[in-house]
Amino acid sequence: MPRAGILSGGGDSPGINAAIRAIVRYGAQREVSVLAFLEGWKGPLEDLARPLRLEDVQGIHRIGGTIIGTSRTNPLKVEGGAERILATLKRHGVDFLIAMGGDDTLGVAHRLASRGVKVVGIPQTIDNDIATTDYSIGFASALEVVTEALDRLHTTAFSHRRVLILEVMGRDSGWLSLFGGVAGGADVILLPEEVFSVDAVEKRIRERQGSGRPFCTVIIAEGCRPAELEGQVLAESKVDAFGHARLGGIGQYLADELSARLDVPVRVTNLAYLQRGGSPTSFDRILATRFGIAAVDFALAGKFDVMTALQGLKVEPVPLEEALSCRRPVDPWLANLADVLD
Ligand code: F6P
Repeated sequence: MPRAGILSGGGDSPGINAAIRAIVRYGAQREVSVLAFLEGWKGPLEDLARPLRLEDVQGIHRIGGTIIGTSRTNPLKVEGGAERILATLKRHGVDFLIAMGGDDTLGVAHRLASRGVKVVGIPQTIDNDIATTDYSIGFASALEVVTEALDRLHTTAFSHRRVLILEVMGRDSGWLSLFGGVAGGADVILLPEEVFSVDAVEKRIRERQGSGRPFCTVIIAEGCRPAELEGQVLAESKVDAFGHARLGGIGQYLADELSARLDVPVRVTNLAYLQRGGSPTSFDRILATRFGIAAVDFALAGKFDVMTALQGLKVEPVPLEEALSCRRPVDPWLANLADVLD
């Protein structure tokens, strides 16, 4: 009976549990047993593991987060980390590993593949910034939260004739900001892909005021860079094991700048972790279920060092090297959506 190891790493996303359930259930049909490594790459590094049986995954497709935990542990930054992981996999008789995560987690998977680990990746990140897949697990669920937040902000912005800014996640890619902004009807949509100027935002708000619309909703991704500043706004300069500083505060920066220039109140809401938590949408449950099943199929067919990628309506095995070759920015023609509705 083949044995699969699974883990989820990096920031969690609604839908991971649906993928875990699919791997365990479909695995059982294909006579694959499943061993979960806990808390991301910390699991195989420190030998934190627990078997997952059918009864462990009953009904978990509805639950957000990940029942096997996650972390931002980078085992390749730990002396002898790769060797320790190889030893853990051997000790447990793991035949192949399914790693769910964003570019950091999948990057480790790819590096371990070159050391002989048989690995299949599943993309999960609310940022939706993994190349080669149309969608990653979690994006659709986060998008619902962003859209609802904008709907709520819209009514109170209108009542008070205020400028309300919503800061959302998205380090380098503005998928949540663009899609959320379009779905929620934001008047100004700012993406990390393009440097923005406070002058241009002020001009836009004044134009609206001049045409009898004194209120304004603005959506801004945490990774947006204002022309007036060097780089991104950080919540904390300390970097994690993958070298990323925690972003946050660009919404407040913009609010302060606009407050000094405009005669209407400007307020900011940072959606932060609310957009990562909670139950997955039906889209994410289905995507995650398909990715889980495909990951088992790819492994049983001997396709390793690949990632499950949604391309149109199909789930394809894409080499991890290709998926990780660049961050996936918002397609420029999609970014035009925001302007078309101006
Ligand atoms: O998972 C990606 C992400 O959601 C980024 O958009 C964000 O910058 C980061 O996670 C924050 O993660 P944490 O604070 O949990 O490390």
